[in-house]
Amino acid sequence: MEVVITDGPAAIGRLVADAIDQVLRSSEAPVIGLATGSSPLPVYQELIARHRDGAITFEHAQAFLLDEYIGLPEGSPQSYRTFIEAQLTDHIDLPNRALDGPSAARVEDASAAGRCYEQRIAAAGGIDLQLLGIGSDGHIGFNEPSSSLASRTRAKTLMDATRHDNARFFDGDTDAVPRHVITQGIGTILDARHLVLIAMGESKAAAVAAAVEGPLTAMIPASALQLHRHATVVLDEEAASRLRLDTYYREAFDNKPHCQGI
Ligand code: GLP
Repeated sequence: MEVVITDGPAAIGRLVADAIDQVLRSSEAPVIGLATGSSPLPVYQELIARHRDGAITFEHAQAFLLDEYIGLPEGSPQSYRTFIEAQLTDHIDLPNRALDGPSAARVEDASAAGRCYEQRIAAAGGIDLQLLGIGSDGHIGFNEPSSSLASRTRAKTLMDATRHDNARFFDGDTDAVPRHVITQGIGTILDARHLVLIAMGESKAAAVAAAVEGPLTAMIPASALQLHRHATVVLDEEAASRLRLDTYYREAFDNKPHCQGI
């Protein structure tokens, strides 16, 4: 796993946008996995700026979302599709039909919907680069602690702590946060060719340390990145503050032979 400690959001935005830019240029049909939450926002702002400058195009790209709430009315401002449209895709030239996400109106529909979603990802050729955030309990997507490390897209029940964390998007009302979600499984996420996990702030430091330096365990779903051949963890100083090998990660990144990209 490559750990990159940066001096903050602007550097994170540039570094990860460079990696996405490379995917967009190196494939005729690039496939990007998008994540919601606040962690990827510096990347989306950088991508929008580069698109406005004419430096990048998403014309031939496809994008897949990690997860979605179950039970929100269509077009709800809190839905992850609406979030990603507002924060990214409304501002770039990704064709409307090229944005896909898991969705199920009811928990009972999620298994079939999950299977179809996996087929659509496979039909696109798989995901080239998947962005990830991390929950304060170590979740990725909406795979809560104890999720199978081999899981595929399916329904999950959120833990109270996650509903509490996400209440900020629901006017602070934890009860308004849906209890059920549909999410790419950990096995689905591990199929992407490059995983890029972004974390910022002290509230993520313990989860990051457990995921990067702790044992591989279903209790910290993000620790599954340890199994991946090309996983990059991009942090600010606060999110990196509990890493034991931080000096080593900095030296390793600074001494990369060719460039300082990820
Ligand atoms: C939610 C999302 C995750 C995201 C996490 C962290 O639970 N389902 O995909 O990584 O929140 O969000 P944030 O980046 O806002 O801290």
